[in-house]
Formats: sequence, structure tokens, C-alpha cells
Amino acid sequence: MEYWESRFKNEGAMWKLEPADSALLALKLFQNSGFRKILVPGMGYGRNAKVFHDNGFKVTGIEISASAVQLAKENGLTFKMHCGSVTQMPFDDELYECIYCYALIHLLNKAERKQFLRNCFNQLKPGGIMVFTVASVSMSLFGTGRKLSENRFRVSKGLEVYFYDNKAVEKEFSPFGLNEIQDIAEPVKFMENQDPILMKLVVCHKPADKC
Ligand SMILES: C[S@@+](CC[C@H](N)C(=O)[O-])C[C@H]1O[C@@H](n2cnc3c(N)ncnc32)[C@H](O)[C@@H]1O
Repeated sequence: MEYWESRFKNEGAMWKLEPADSALLALKLFQNSGFRKILVPGMGYGRNAKVFHDNGFKVTGIEISASAVQLAKENGLTFKMHCGSVTQMPFDDELYECIYCYALIHLLNKAERKQFLRNCFNQLKPGGIMVFTVASVSMSLFGTGRKLSENRFRVSKGLEVYFYDNKAVEKEFSPFGLNEIQDIAEPVKFMENQDPILMKLVVCHKPADKC
């Protein structure tokens, strides 16, 4: 993913360090479930992973960009970080109570998205919950750039995005315990006077083991 590596290298912590609203919603959900151990794939430089870390969670991050991992460390984040692609998971043999993933899955192609969801589900404890924030067809970016396939566009050089509608979420996430789909307007907290980003919050539950 050269696109992200060069952006982090040139722009640093470009979204500052305030967490997305959906990370705060996931935090509440995970806290209410009594969870303490979380995996954050595609963590960037850790602006969303940080809120879990600050609230006492044992965090493990995965990130493909070495510069982003370096930025996370420079920003004082001390949890375990694996540098590599989520398509190569697992990076450890841990099981996690919860998984939070912001704005990553829609960057992958169809086969990679399926593999990634399977990889996450495999590392989720029975009874665990995973939350994904994904690009929506309601986003202003939808339909811009070159169309690659149904609802997937090269929106700028090196950046390919798959935009989800509810039907696509149901199709892709149902095999992995889909429980809830919410439309969410993410405020852009690092810049003034920006319209919110229209995304979808997808919640999956892994059934608990039967005894
Ligand atoms: C839109 S950014 C979101 C970053 C972070 N989740 C946040 O909220 O600040 C997407 C992130 O996914 C990472 N990424 C993209 N493809 C990846 C892959 N195959 N494996 C791991 N990380 C990936 C990028 O480097 C980037 O950090």
C-alpha cells in the first residue's frame, strides 16, 4: 500500500489524535460487555487505538505502513503493533474479545475483504464482538474517479474504495455474525467547517461456545 506509506511519511499524524465517534461508540459497547483485550487492524498511527489503550484495554494493532507504526510510537503509544497486511493475518496466536476497525476494509478488493473478515472472525473469542466503520454509498466521494466494478472506484491515484450499501454489508458480513448496521455521520474533528463523513457502522457478534 504505497499510497498510505507515502501519505504518512509526508503528512505525519494528518487526522490528529482525537478518536472518531464510532470508536467512542465501540468503546462503550465493549466496556458494557466487560471486554479488555482488543485487536485494531489498519490502526494507522493509532488515533482510534489510543482511546482503547487510554481506557485500560490491552491493545494489539496491525498496520501495513511502517511510517504509521513509527508515528504511533513517536506519539507515545506503547502497545504491541504488527507491521504487515491484514490479508496475512494472523500475526499471533491470540484470541481477542473484541476487534475495532476504522476505514480499512473498503480499501481491499473483493477476495481480500472476504479473507480479512474470515481472519478477524478466526481471531475473535466465542462471545466476542467486532465493529467495522466502512465507506457508504452516501459518501460524497461515491461515484467519483474511475469505476473498477460495481460500487468500487479509483477515487484518486493509488486509492481504490468499495462503497457499501446495506445489501452489500448483509452479503459480506452475514457469514461472520452480522448483528447490526447503523448509518453514522462522522464529524471531521481535525478541520473546521467540514461536512461529516457518511459511513456505516457494522457490528458482528461471534456466538458463544455451547457447553
Ligand atoms: C483510512 S486509513 C484509517 C487509519 C486508522 N484506522 C484511523 O482511523 O486513523 C486506512 C489505514 O489502513 C491501512 N491499511 C491499508 N491497507 C492495509 C492492509 N492491507 N493491511 C493493514 N493495513 C492497511 C493504511 O495504511 C491506513 O493506515
